[in-house]
Amino acid sequence: MNNIAIRLEEEKDYRAVEELTRKAFWREERIEKIGVGCTEHYMVHSLRKMDGIMELNFIAEVDGKIVGHIIYSNAYIEKSDHQKIEVLNFGPISVLPAYQKQGVGSALMKHSIECAKKLGYGAILFFGHPTYYPRFGFVEAKEFGITTAWGANYPAFMAMELKQDFLKDIDGKFIEAVIYDEEQHKEKAAEFDKNFYK
Ligand SMILES: CC(C)(COP(=O)(O)OP(=O)(O)OC[C@H]1O[C@@H](n2cnc3c(N)ncnc32)[C@H](O)[C@@H]1OP(=O)(O)O)[C@@H](O)C(=O)NCCC(=O)NCCS
Repeated sequence: MNNIAIRLEEEKDYRAVEELTRKAFWREERIEKIGVGCTEHYMVHSLRKMDGIMELNFIAEVDGKIVGHIIYSNAYIEKSDHQKIEVLNFGPISVLPAYQKQGVGSALMKHSIECAKKLGYGAILFFGHPTYYPRFGFVEAKEFGITTAWGANYPAFMAMELKQDFLKDIDGKFIEAVIYDEEQHKEKAAEFDKNFYK
C-alpha cells in the first residue's frame, strides 16, 4: 500500500487508537486466562500519562482512517554496578486486522526508528515476534550481553543500536515500564475494557 501517512498521535485520536489496539490484540481465549481479551489498549491509555514518549507516539492513516499505531516508552539497562543506561522500549504496535500485511506496521517501524535516531536515543530494546523485527535491524539482546530483568534470554527479546556501539560492553538487565507487567494490571485493564463495545 503506498498511501500510508504517518503522523504524531493527537488527543482527538485517543479513542480511535484504543479501539484499534483492542481490535488488533483481542483474543477470546485470554478472557478465561486473565479476565479480559487484551490489556494492550489499557497500556496505551496509561503510557500517555506515564512512561510513554509523546514525541514517539505515532498513528498511521490510510485515506484519512486511523489504521495503525505505535508508542515508545522510557526504559533502562541496569548494569551490575547499578548504573542505569537509558534506552527506548516500544509497544504496543497495532494495525487494524483488515489492514495487516500491507506494509502499515513496517511504515510505522521505519518512521519511528528514524525519528528516535534524530531525537538522539541510543538503543531500542523490546519483546516481540522474532520473525518480524529483524528486518528493521533488531537482533537478539543476548548479542549485547543484555538479559531480561529476571536474567533470561530468548529470541523474542531483541535489541537495536541507534548510535554505533551504544550497547557495547553494557552487560546488564533490561528494565521496562511497569505497565507492561500484565499480571499486575489485568484487573484494571478489565475494568477499563468496560468502556468499549463488545
Ligand atoms: C504485527 C503487526 C504490527 C505487523 O504489522 P503489519 O502491517 O501487519 O506488517 P507489515 O505489512 O509491515 O509486514 C508484513 C509482514 O509481517 C509479518 N507478520 C505480521 N504479523 C506477524 C506476527 N504476528 N508474527 C510474525 N510475523 C508477522 C507478515 O507475515 C509479513 O511478513 P512478510 O513480509 O515476510 O510476508 C500487525 O500484524 C498487528 O497489529 N498484529 C496484531 C498485534 C500484534 O501482534 N502486535 C505486535 C506485538 S509484538
